[in-house]
Amino acid sequence: MELKLKNVCKKYDDKDILIDINAHIKDRSAIAIIGPSGAGKSTLLRLLSLIETPDCGRICVNDNHLSEISPEEYYKKIGFVFQTHTLFPHLTVLRNITLILEKVHNKTVVEAKKIALDLLEHFELTEHIHKRAGQLSGGQSQRVSIVRSLAISPEVLFLDEPTSSLDPVLTQEVLKTIIKLKLDNMNFVIVTHEILFAKKAADYIIFMEEGRIVEMGDVSILDDPKTWELKQFLSNVFLW
Ligand SMILES: Nc1ncnc2c1ncn2[C@@H]1O[C@H](COP(=O)(O)OP(=O)(O)OP(=O)(O)O)[C@@H](O)[C@H]1O
Ligand SMILES: [Mg+2]
Repeated sequence: MELKLKNVCKKYDDKDILIDINAHIKDRSAIAIIGPSGAGKSTLLRLLSLIETPDCGRICVNDNHLSEISPEEYYKKIGFVFQTHTLFPHLTVLRNITLILEKVHNKTVVEAKKIALDLLEHFELTEHIHKRAGQLSGGQSQRVSIVRSLAISPEVLFLDEPTSSLDPVLTQEVLKTIIKLKLDNMNFVIVTHEILFAKKAADYIIFMEEGRIVEMGDVSILDDPKTWELKQFLSNVFLW
């Protein structure tokens, strides 16, 4: 994945939320964004996924120059997984996945079913395909959400704290699924508070605080942070 951010800024109600964000990250498949609450992590992810547009600067994700591409075109190439799942509760797991393939991506019923079944099997969800999404556990729902976002064969997947609403056991279930994405060489950008997990699943770390990128680099920065801010953040995270 290639990620280019040049002088990116974002304001909400005249308040600076992202300030002069610059990064040029090449040849990394998985990027984790970490940092304290309110740092602007989700905002940055929303800009990268064109849910929102920056007030200044330029963004490029792989070969997509986001100021020159329509959101509709871009949404067909990316996947997004939110903090809580967004499945249709009254539809089955299978239908939750085939629906978007048929209606948005113009796949035939047969093609859509094959894609969905293959992915559900790959992520060990076959036993749940006929359950309604509303009957799944939180962890299963998030795993199905990940599978649904993968069904369109996205160029890149954005995940915003996909485990934040889950207990520790279900969290591990979902994190295992994300490790599998890494093994499959999927390009993804994940916002996470799970630092040990970030170390394992990502190959590049962006640490943000108060709207700025304070430190970034390969995962070794988590063992050997250069800035006082990242040192402080990590010591707070690992307090207990
Ligand atoms: N739509 C919005 N309108 C106004 N302010 C917003 C909006 N979205 C976010 N903010 C503000 O922007 C700042 C950054 O928010 P953001 O959600 O990006 O932080 P975060 O790093 O993802 O935090 P968390 O770890 O708690 O999810 C916060 O001060 C937040 O209140
Ligand atoms: Mg957030």
